[in-house]
Amino acid sequence: MLSIDTLRLFLHVSAAAIWVGGQFTIAGILPTVRGMGDDAPRQVARAFNRMAWPAYGVAVVTGLWGVLEVPLDAIPHPEIEIKLLVVVLSGLGALIHQFANGNKAMLAIGGAMSSLFGAAAIWVGVALAV
Ligand code: HEM
Repeated sequence: MLSIDTLRLFLHVSAAAIWVGGQFTIAGILPTVRGMGDDAPRQVARAFNRMAWPAYGVAVVTGLWGVLEVPLDAIPHPEIEIKLLVVVLSGLGALIHQFANGNKAMLAIGGAMSSLFGAAAIWVGVALAV
């Protein structure tokens, strides 16, 4: 129960929960946040970013660490490549969203990209673990 593997997976899943779960939570409470003032959504988004990006970093580092623990000939293909692709697209979506500068299409496309590819990363991750 107390092993480095458990610690790595614990950090990986906790970081994934913050990155993806946080995005869905923010989307869900957005109507309430909008009611708190014109600048409230921006302030909440900035505060979330301070948690989300470190969590993304932890997910990437612990994910790559997990791959390094697997013998080269036992790494599942194409699952690992698909996993990396959806993780990169989730991060890219977040960047598009973050740097939208008020552009509504970029905000919507970037936000949707980040959370949907984030959910896909969870799906592929669970498939890798079972
Ligand atoms: C946004 C980033 C990421 C999210 C949301 C995410 C999510 C998850 C989740 C939910 C699991 C399932 C754990 C379980 O069911 O026990 C998982 C497992 C896994 N993920 Fe990720 N992950 C991310 C990044 C990465 C990266 C960059 C890699 C590297 C290729 C990676 C590789 C793995 C591996 C190998 C597993 C299987 C469990 C293990 O041996 O550690 N993940 N991931």
